[in-house]
Amino acid sequence: MPANPELRDYLLTRRSVTKPFLAEPGPNEDELKQLFTIANRVPDHGKLAPWRMIVYAGDARLQVGEILARKFKADYPDATAEQLEAERQQFLPAPLTVGVLSSPVDHFKIPQFEQLLAAGNVAFNLAHGANALGFGAHWVTRWFAYDDEAAAALGARPGERFVGFVHIGTPETRLEDRERPSIDDIVSIWQS
Ligand SMILES: Cc1cc2nc3c(=O)[nH]c(=O)nc-3n(C[C@H](O)[C@H](O)[C@H](O)COP(=O)(O)O)c2cc1C
Repeated sequence: MPANPELRDYLLTRRSVTKPFLAEPGPNEDELKQLFTIANRVPDHGKLAPWRMIVYAGDARLQVGEILARKFKADYPDATAEQLEAERQQFLPAPLTVGVLSSPVDHFKIPQFEQLLAAGNVAFNLAHGANALGFGAHWVTRWFAYDDEAAAALGARPGERFVGFVHIGTPETRLEDRERPSIDDIVSIWQS
């Protein structure tokens, strides 16, 4: 692959765009297809494809909000109106959210840990793909990725878990960079 300074600069400066700053328009049908093709193109030990994606767009985002608010109220009967409204807004205002699921299988050689990593890469590739098409993306998990009942209501099947939800939309801002760990702290040279 020839050197690609544009790609290098992208990787050196990439940032998430948090959900409040993701506006319409979202990806059209053709762009969505490209996004899923990019997301699907991850290293995959054993070619098991242990991941799935679920799209939440349009009115589905409101329905998700109602489900989450109802579950939140059931778990926390004293929840305030403000908290319930925040649950209703979980998938807003981003025009589109993609839930990425780890769908591991039992395999004699490939540990489920590796299958989980592959699904994580799908989520990040989705963000890269969104950026490549000019959109912003925000990968979150939130409580409903860890709550079995809520996750099932959002489409997780038995044995699956959400590695995250990637909100995608037109960026309304470019966030300042945030501090990164020092390379010296995270890299060492192995010596025997
Ligand atoms: C697996 C995973 C789960 C995350 N879940 C959340 C979350 O629930 N809420 C949140 O505000 N940020 C969450 N984040 C962090 C956001 O993606 C965050 O905005 C991002 O790390 C910002 O850094 P960046 O600009 O380098 O992408 C999560 C990140 C990862 C990798």
